[in-house]
Amino acid sequence: MNQEDAEALVHVGAGTITGNLFRRYWIPACLSEEVPDRDGAPIRFRLLGEDLVAFRDTNGVVGLVDAFCPHRRAPMFFGRNEECGLRCVYHGWKFDAEGTCVDMPSEPPDSLFKTKVKIGAYPTWEAGGLVWTYMGPADKRPPTPDYEYLRVPASHRHVSKTLQSCNYLQALDGGVDTSHSSFLHNEDMRSNNGLRARDGAPRIELEKTAYGFTYVGTRNVGDDGLYCRVYHYMLPTVQVRGFVTKWTSAEPHETPTIHGHFWIPIDDETTWMYNYMYGVDAAAEITPEFAEGFESWTGRGREHVLPGYRLKANLENDYFLDRERQKTLTYTGIPGGANTQDIAITEGMGPIADRTKEHLGTSDRAVITARTLLLEAGRDVAEGRDPRGLDPATYRGVRAYDAVVKRDQDWRALEPQLIAKW
Ligand code: FES
Ligand SMILES: [Fe+2]
Repeated sequence: MNQEDAEALVHVGAGTITGNLFRRYWIPACLSEEVPDRDGAPIRFRLLGEDLVAFRDTNGVVGLVDAFCPHRRAPMFFGRNEECGLRCVYHGWKFDAEGTCVDMPSEPPDSLFKTKVKIGAYPTWEAGGLVWTYMGPADKRPPTPDYEYLRVPASHRHVSKTLQSCNYLQALDGGVDTSHSSFLHNEDMRSNNGLRARDGAPRIELEKTAYGFTYVGTRNVGDDGLYCRVYHYMLPTVQVRGFVTKWTSAEPHETPTIHGHFWIPIDDETTWMYNYMYGVDAAAEITPEFAEGFESWTGRGREHVLPGYRLKANLENDYFLDRERQKTLTYTGIPGGANTQDIAITEGMGPIADRTKEHLGTSDRAVITARTLLLEAGRDVAEGRDPRGLDPATYRGVRAYDAVVKRDQDWRALEPQLIAKW
């Protein structure tokens, strides 16, 4: 990758090519659980390099406003969340969820000043346990997203988030790269049980679509047949993959699920990884115990995280890398689970990996295509066209899946399962 493309892809601030691209989609701003209560405590965070504050107002609507008061830049995080607005505690100016100034007690009662001042605010929409926002031009606001995950009842889904201290593209690269799973996530090199470990060079088939691409990794798993894993990538940074089949056998899970991520840039060097899952059908309820069990298995259970959705395992403690474990059991020696290992590798590259020094092979086809589509979409926005994946109709009917098929079949045998059922 040349330096120019590499630079264009990684910067997400206002006015940058990829920053403008992200600002054309609805993206998750935070978890609904972070602002649980009406008139409750506001939270502060960054999104696409902008400092923001979120609060749930008296009506239950989440306001998302500039972190600093437009009067004299006092921190709105210190604000008082009261009667449908957030009041700055420096001089009492109060703003509603849309950013309108509804009270300015420091000015004379007959002053019209308050009609002239607004605080920067972004629209919000809640679905799937997430507060979504759109940070782009008002006249370009697309319809709200319609991933299958967002239509599932709360009893059949789960979402969490994890801080990833690196650029979003490192995270996305890992997310569309099925081949690393055979190595990085091999939990027992002594056995040949793991379906993914039985074939480290999956055959990758990829088809571009109106929302991004579909891709299938096919692994030869010996007498059991062919293990096919169907993924979807939706622009800008949505991934969805099946986890219907067990890790260590061709059997389906007792609770078959579909999983995915949204990778949302906090700024150029940090990213929120949102982790979602949902049951494939009505029989597959996601109980809190099941969800916590999965989170724990993958390395982001309660025992693994610190406040602020950060992992206890981090670069400073080398993710608790155990060299003895590495010698005898796993490639990485990093305990915790797949999530910890993904984070260790992507953060270990440094905040922004130098992509001019890579050597991409055939197994990197999905990585190459995702970057190509992002660059193309960034160019589309810069030149006044709509980017790929804005229209929910293009992806609302698709779903991901994984299963073992007979040796004389291919992934097309799974086609009836690749249609959204919720
Ligand atoms: S700085 Fe917020 S009211 Fe003055
Ligand atoms: Fe991974």
